[in-house]
Amino acid sequence: MTRWSVICGLVLALAGCGEAPLVADAGAGDDAGEEVAWSAPMLAGPEAVLEDMNPDPDVVEVHLRAELTDLDLGDGTVRPMLSYNGVYPGPVLQAEVGQEIVVHFENHTLQDTTVHWHGLRISDQMDGSPRIQEPVAALDGTFTYRFMLPDAGTYWYHPHVRTNEQLELGLVGTIVVHDRNDPVFDAERVVVLDDILIDPSTDRVAGFLSTHPELVHGRSGNVLLTNGHVSPGTSGTARPGQVERWRLVNTANARTMSVSLTGGTMRVVATDAGRLAEPFETNRLELPVGQRYDIEVRHERAVTTALQSRVLALDDAGDVVEVAMPVYLVEVAGEPVAEPREIVWTELPAVDPRIVDQEVTMEFEGINDPVDGLQWMINGQAHPEEPLFTFGEGETVRMVLRNLAGQEHPFHLHGQFFEIEGRPGLYDTVMVSGGATVNIVAHLDNPGQWMAHCHILEHAELGMMSEIVVEPR
Ligand code: C2O
Ligand code: CU
Repeated sequence: MTRWSVICGLVLALAGCGEAPLVADAGAGDDAGEEVAWSAPMLAGPEAVLEDMNPDPDVVEVHLRAELTDLDLGDGTVRPMLSYNGVYPGPVLQAEVGQEIVVHFENHTLQDTTVHWHGLRISDQMDGSPRIQEPVAALDGTFTYRFMLPDAGTYWYHPHVRTNEQLELGLVGTIVVHDRNDPVFDAERVVVLDDILIDPSTDRVAGFLSTHPELVHGRSGNVLLTNGHVSPGTSGTARPGQVERWRLVNTANARTMSVSLTGGTMRVVATDAGRLAEPFETNRLELPVGQRYDIEVRHERAVTTALQSRVLALDDAGDVVEVAMPVYLVEVAGEPVAEPREIVWTELPAVDPRIVDQEVTMEFEGINDPVDGLQWMINGQAHPEEPLFTFGEGETVRMVLRNLAGQEHPFHLHGQFFEIEGRPGLYDTVMVSGGATVNIVAHLDNPGQWMAHCHILEHAELGMMSEIVVEPR
C-alpha cells in the first residue's frame, strides 16, 4: 500500500487496491512445426479484442460502439464514464500489416465524436479529423471507417472531438498491427498507461478545464491506471527464462510516463512507427502522451518483474520527492525454462537516407489573452483556420520545434512518420520540453490535410492545434 500522494493535491488513495488480473495469461501462438499456419499471438492486457466478422482473410471487419458505461476501475466504485464496446480500454483492433480494415462505428454517447487512428498512415478522409469528417452525431450517429494497414506496429485510437473530455472519460483503445515475420515470444502484452482525475468530494471524474494547473500544465490525474484498472491492476505470471513482448502505450491527457523495469531486463525493439533496425537496451524510458514503445522483457529469475512509473509525490514531511510506483507486475515463478527462446528479428531492408528538401520552424508558446484567457499557440496563432504550411508529397522536411514556454509540449503529426535527431527509429509524437528546441525530419509521404498539435489535450483544446497540407504529386 502506497503512502505517497501524487502532486496535484489529491491523494492516490486507490493505489494498491485492485490487483485482480483482468485476463488469464495468454501464451504466444503455435510455433512448433514448420508448416503451421501463422496465427496472431494472443494478447494479454486489455479485456477484449475486436472480433473480425469477415471471412475474407484480407479484410478485418469489426463493430465499434462508443457508449455511456458505468465502469469500475478496480477500486470498488462504479462511475458513469464512456467506453468503446463496454470496456475500458476499448477492445484491441488486432490485424496484420496489409489487411483492409472496415469499422462500423456507432455513437451512442451524448456528444458528437469521431475516431482517430493515432499513428496510422491512412487517408485523411478516414483519420477522424473534425475539419474533414463531419463528426458522428450523438445518440445514434454512424460512420464506416475503411482503410488499409500500411505499417506493422503498436498504435491506438481515440476521439478527436472534445478530446480532453472524451479520452479522460474512457474512449481509448489500442491497435496492434502484426508482421508475421516477427519473432514469436512466450507472451505478448499490451500495457496501457493512463491516469484519471477523481474529485475526492464526489468520487466522480472531476470537471474539465476548471483549474489553473489544468489549463497551464494539462490535466494530471490523481490515480494511475494500467489497462483501465488502478495500477498495478493488471498482472500476469511467467517462468524464469521466458521472453515477452510488451507494447507500452501512454494514453494519459498530459502525464509523461517515465518507466523503468525491475526484476527483469528490457530492450527497446520498436518505436511509434514499428520495429527498430537495431534494438537497444535501456533501464529508463520516457513516454510522452501519445507515444508507444515495444519492449522485449526477459524474466531472468524467480522474482516479480515490475514496470514502474516515476511520479512526483509528497512524502510524510510534505516534501516533493520522486517515487517509483509499480504499474504492471508479472510474477515469475516455477521451473526455469529448459532452453530460453532465441529471439531472432529478420534484417530490415536497407532504405535510402532521406535528403532534407526544406526547413521550417514551429514555435510553441502560451499567452494570457484578456478576452479569451489562456491561449496555447503554434507560430503565434491559436486554432489557425489556414494550414501552417503546404508541402509536396514525398518531401523531406526538417521541422525545428522551438518551445518558448516553460511547460512541455509533446508534438504529434497525423498521417506521417518522422525522425527525431539523435535517436533511432521513426515516430509520430515527440516531446519538446520546456524551453527546448528539438529537430525532427518528417517523411511527408502521405498526401492530405493533416492535424499537427500538442498531445497534451488541454493545450490542444486551448489552441495548440494546427494543420499542414501535403499536396499529392
Ligand atoms: Cu492521438 Cu491528433 O491525436
Ligand atoms: Cu502542449
